[in-house]
Amino acid sequence: MARKFLIGGNWKCNGTRENVAALVEVLNEGGEFPDNAEVVVAPPSIFLQTVKDTIRPDIKVSTQNVGKNVRPGAYTGELCASMIKDFGVEWVITGHSERRVGFGCAGESSDLIAEKSKVALDCGLNVIMCIGESLAVREANQTLELVLEDHMAAFLKTLEEADWSRVVVAYEPVWAIGTGVTASPAQAQEVHSAIRAWVGEKVSPAVAESLRIIYGGSVKSSNAAELATCPDIDGFLVGGASLKPDFVDIIKAVE
Ligand code: G3P
Repeated sequence: MARKFLIGGNWKCNGTRENVAALVEVLNEGGEFPDNAEVVVAPPSIFLQTVKDTIRPDIKVSTQNVGKNVRPGAYTGELCASMIKDFGVEWVITGHSERRVGFGCAGESSDLIAEKSKVALDCGLNVIMCIGESLAVREANQTLELVLEDHMAAFLKTLEEADWSRVVVAYEPVWAIGTGVTASPAQAQEVHSAIRAWVGEKVSPAVAESLRIIYGGSVKSSNAAELATCPDIDGFLVGGASLKPDFVDIIKAVE
């Protein structure tokens, strides 16, 4: 079956009212997107309302995180899944490596990320679940051990087979994030195909066939088309380049 590409733009903690409005205008003026491309952008929460209200209808909006609390309540600083759903946002990102390592405080464990992902799925949201290894892990030849037996395995504890239809897995080698050092198509394809095979064995062949596995880590318009030709790369999660007009060229690169 042909899987529709998903191209995500993770704006991280970036933007002002002025440049967010300018970026939305660039995207709105970006012309027709390929029929096989689904586009989602994840602004900082403070800009969710203005982006959701002004962006073109064929671009969906996502949060960059979600609380593990199912219901609203005394969870200072959290955005809970039921609130995100009520607000009209359809996507959340979980497990980004920047949240796994934390910001000077304890990072998020694979089990917590799996718990949060399940809460979001149970609220009817779609989830982009991020996984990926550090340079030290890759250099120790332990990439697949970490990505499969830790990051992916945690999701087996919380997700039911039906949940996977609303999941996108984002493989983001940490050593490629924000570094300009993109994984080669061969490197990315090797891990993506291993993830798909692992899902086929641990969940089901049908889920493995339909699951979209997207790549993140220094994706640019100059490398997107070649990466997109890999059989198990079903799109991208783009950081820096999603804040620039280059993001439109990345979307069109999957044509
Ligand atoms: O979530 C996507 C992000 O981690 C990739 O960042 O700047 O390497 O495209 P960047």
